[in-house]
Amino acid sequence: MSEQIFIGVAWPYANGPLHLGHIAGAYLPADVFARYQRITGNRVLMVSGSDQHGTPITIRAEQEGLTPAQVADKYHREFIDCWRQLGISFDIYTHTETANHAKVTHDIFSTLLQKGHIYKGKMSQPFCPSCQRFLPDRYVEGTCPFCGSPRARGDQCEDCGKALNPEDLLELRCKICSGKPHFRDSEHFFLRLSSFRDQLLAWVKQQSHWRPNVLNFTLRYLEEGLKDRAITRDMEWGIPVPVSSFEKKRIYVWFEAVIGYLSASKEWAQQQGEPESWRTFWSGMSKSYYFIGKDNIPFHTMIWPAILMGYGGLNLPYDVPANEFLSIDGKKLSTSRNWAVWLPDYLQRYDPDPLRYFLSANMPETADADFSWREFYRRNNDELVATYGNLVHRVLTFCQRHFAGQVPEGRPDDPPSQILIQKAQAAFDTVGTHINACRFREAIKAAFGLAQEANRYLDEKSPWKAQKNHDSSTAIYTSLVAISALKTQLYPFLPFSSAKLHRLLGFTGNLESAGWKLRFPTPGQALPPPEPLFIKLDEKLIPEESMKIGSTNLS
Ligand code: MF3
Ligand code: ZN
Repeated sequence: MSEQIFIGVAWPYANGPLHLGHIAGAYLPADVFARYQRITGNRVLMVSGSDQHGTPITIRAEQEGLTPAQVADKYHREFIDCWRQLGISFDIYTHTETANHAKVTHDIFSTLLQKGHIYKGKMSQPFCPSCQRFLPDRYVEGTCPFCGSPRARGDQCEDCGKALNPEDLLELRCKICSGKPHFRDSEHFFLRLSSFRDQLLAWVKQQSHWRPNVLNFTLRYLEEGLKDRAITRDMEWGIPVPVSSFEKKRIYVWFEAVIGYLSASKEWAQQQGEPESWRTFWSGMSKSYYFIGKDNIPFHTMIWPAILMGYGGLNLPYDVPANEFLSIDGKKLSTSRNWAVWLPDYLQRYDPDPLRYFLSANMPETADADFSWREFYRRNNDELVATYGNLVHRVLTFCQRHFAGQVPEGRPDDPPSQILIQKAQAAFDTVGTHINACRFREAIKAAFGLAQEANRYLDEKSPWKAQKNHDSSTAIYTSLVAISALKTQLYPFLPFSSAKLHRLLGFTGNLESAGWKLRFPTPGQALPPPEPLFIKLDEKLIPEESMKIGSTNLS
């Protein structure tokens, strides 16, 4: 029976280009998972959008001399382009400046207010006397009380990752003028998180299928107790607060960004011409998965669930498979120091599948993982090209040369051929089970295990020695069967090369509708001229690319 799967993916701030940390952390695992669910016949709704509000956007706008709307719009377009080129298959990718999102946010805000889960209160806020303004979140900087970093911000320390309040910072200074702020009272709305603590704890304790890091982090947090949180800010960019005398304030970006999951679902339903169809994915047996980086865990395992509990009637997350971080050349990624590999740069020079391969085989699922151009080069040439690409190429060119460009008649009746076909069959279960449990590294490893088996089989059979007889047609036919299995099993990871291989094997129609099962190529079927699936990369890319990392004079 087909299932309904909701997939929410973290909403990237539209304040700068995407980098490989974003992709490995959330977008690629979500896409692999979504493609697998779709090809098995499940109904999927995968949503995300650009996070266009908050101080990350306004600070960037001030630096670039643009309006926040211009900055947000520029990166939103760039992101959409990246998703298309990298094959991240959202059912909808929207942003937080839509009228629909404001409406859904207001509905949730007002409902929680009316139910007493939101209340008005006073909060002491840093205020810069020379700039004559409040300094919310990232507008105030200082020394981190935990790690001593001099560049901690009012919401978080980028170096040690601890969440902060402005009053925790030592040596407070205004981000704009470096002046010394003082504290002033300001009226704000607060989410009564403290009252959800017991309910959250009871719910989280049942989530034994969560990754241990996500579960333990959340339990530790909840055991320490939950503090109410301000959900409005003194600023003018963002979603207005639907209460009078709050005209100069906006809803806090984190409160509304998570609501994006719901508003995007409603927008999608509108686009389908069935405005109520979002409900299928938000109630009943539908399961919701949230793919995020580990810095976003509290918002998805506590704050968003608390909002949903308070609102009522909507599914809580089923799983939050948060990934750890991706480092670059062994060092923590830092966008401000340009210690990053930028996705638009990558996509300009290379194909999408090699990156999808590298980041899947080396995904930061249970521990941090590292990207280096040397490893990228090695995995492309020694694994993707040597193990998989060459296997496919050897078999397809053989068909072209010795079987008149057709699938040969083969009778895989000898034990080695039968064993390979059994392994090809069995790998559907192994790979599928791993993907379904969000173990992506294991899944792609299992699929590549089959590619290795097929190589071994082909080497043993060495059909090029006999060229055209019963044995060589059996060997080539059996290899085509294994390759057909591989193109399906690797489809969630390598959608572009899989679609190409589907065609090169003589199949018509799209790969996704062929399903998660072994399709035997048809003997006698004419095959198109073979084309390589992947290209061998030149070693000189390593110094060329490595030089760009950390360099601050980029064009
Ligand atoms: N914009 C946030 C970030 O980049 C992530 C928001 S995820 C959300 O860290 F879905 F909760 F919005
Ligand atoms: Zn100032």
